[in-house]
Amino acid sequence: MAFKTTKSLILGAIVAVASVTGIAFAAGGGVHSDYEEQHVDWSFNGPFGKIDRAAAQRGYKVYREVCASCHSLKYVAFRHLGDENAPFYLEDFKNPNDNPYVKNFAADWTVADIDGETGDPIERPGITADYFPPIFPNDAAARASNGGSIPPDLSSMVKARTNGADYVYNLMLAYGTPIPKGVEITPGLHFNPVMDGGKIAMAAPLSEGLVDYDPVEINDHGELKTVAAPEATMEQMSHDLVQFLAWSADPKMEQRKSTGLMTIIYLLILSLLLFLSYKRVWRNVKH
Ligand code: HEC
Repeated sequence: MAFKTTKSLILGAIVAVASVTGIAFAAGGGVHSDYEEQHVDWSFNGPFGKIDRAAAQRGYKVYREVCASCHSLKYVAFRHLGDENAPFYLEDFKNPNDNPYVKNFAADWTVADIDGETGDPIERPGITADYFPPIFPNDAAARASNGGSIPPDLSSMVKARTNGADYVYNLMLAYGTPIPKGVEITPGLHFNPVMDGGKIAMAAPLSEGLVDYDPVEINDHGELKTVAAPEATMEQMSHDLVQFLAWSADPKMEQRKSTGLMTIIYLLILSLLLFLSYKRVWRNVKH
């Protein structure tokens, strides 16, 4: 009987650990080349992992200034940026709709709407309740601007590819690798060994020093701090982007992990109590 208790305990722990880490499966693959794939020890890996908030704030800047001319982020609303555990959460503005960062980010975008009085289509600055708007009005327009390919939405990109965080990181860094013999790159395509088949319709989006990082950040406690802005190296920008996109792909990750942890502790205590009461109930019975 004691064995059975141990078994159910282990089973409970496995279920809880699986729910904490959010095990996911997806597809992907590369091509043989000189590029050496980097494996980053991401701060958000593992059952206690967290988003590096300052990096994700910089990542938003890179997304906004570089990627957003082609890629949408349609599953994210501006107000999500200021939720607890989100990159721009401010202790003084617990309601994200009042958060000055969130308000500025929203107002920085143009959103399509309908005039409430005339019913005419209009464009207005974004508000905190809006979702990130589409970049192109439709797929045909997206293809026309991108040599026939559609830039995919980036909201869940880190979850949509196998080892998505490393994948996006390496995708950014692998441009410029010498094209191996036998791989033919037609006009409009670019060589990137990380991409399936090595060919991608996106030109290298990043270059050294492309963005000017701000010398302020919001720390883990939601306080605004003046800091030395890091240099915008390729690795730094790619790392920051991935931190931001890892958050957008799983905004509730930190809550989920702490719930998972509480579940494990709860199950352990429950198992112990059940075992002790079993001992007590059967104390005087021969078996
Ligand atoms: C000028 C437009 C443009 C910009 C700017 C751009 N992309 Fe892309 N991106 C594309 C297109 C087009 C595709 C589709 C490529 C294909 O299917 O071959 C793509 C594909 C991708 C993919 C998916 C690759 C895959 O596995 O299918 C990722 C990830 C990505 N881009 C990330 C980024 C990031 C991050 C940035 C900003 C640093 C960025 N892109 C900037 C046009 C762009």
